[in-house]
Amino acid sequence: MVDGVKAGCCAFETHVDFAEDGDIVPAAGVLYIATTGILPRYQGQGLGAVLKSWQVAYARRHGFQRMVTSSRASNAAMIALNGRFGFQIARRIEGYYTDPLEAAVVMEWTRSRPCRLNGDSASPLGSGTPR
Ligand SMILES: CC(C)(COP(=O)(O)OP(=O)(O)OC[C@H]1O[C@@H](n2cnc3c(N)ncnc32)[C@H](O)[C@@H]1OP(=O)(O)O)[C@@H](O)C(=O)NCCC(=O)NCCS
Repeated sequence: MVDGVKAGCCAFETHVDFAEDGDIVPAAGVLYIATTGILPRYQGQGLGAVLKSWQVAYARRHGFQRMVTSSRASNAAMIALNGRFGFQIARRIEGYYTDPLEAAVVMEWTRSRPCRLNGDSASPLGSGTPR
């Protein structure tokens, strides 16, 4: 919300993982980010980073060991944003998306990996409580 107006949203599924073939399967301790989006007129103002930071804080606060998410291979903004917050590319699933047909890039974040909560390399954050 920005000044009382919805600017974006995200959706989770708890305790599920993204299987090799792209199916969503039960998996204790894994938080699946089903979607993340900032409305076009609010993009490029840092709100995606705020939302991603909140996702990492949510996972830490609720004890999830991993987060997984996927995006179209062409979605450079989402892949870069995930990368800024410690997500790494796990694999690519060819032909996962349709209209248009495109590969999915699956990315994962692991709790034990050092994380930069605000995406700023000058602010390393270990495995402690989110600020
Ligand atoms: C991806 C998305 C959430 C980014 O939100 P945003 O508010 O525009 O992003 P921010 O302004 O916070 O930028 C944060 C970082 O995202 C990345 N980023 C944002 N726009 C980018 C672009 N056009 N190209 C490359 N990287 C980009 C960068 O790493 C950027 O950091 P920087 O500014 O230091 O380079 C937004 O573009 C979006 O909602 N896109 C449409 C929906 C979507 O594709 N969702 C993913 C599928 S589930």
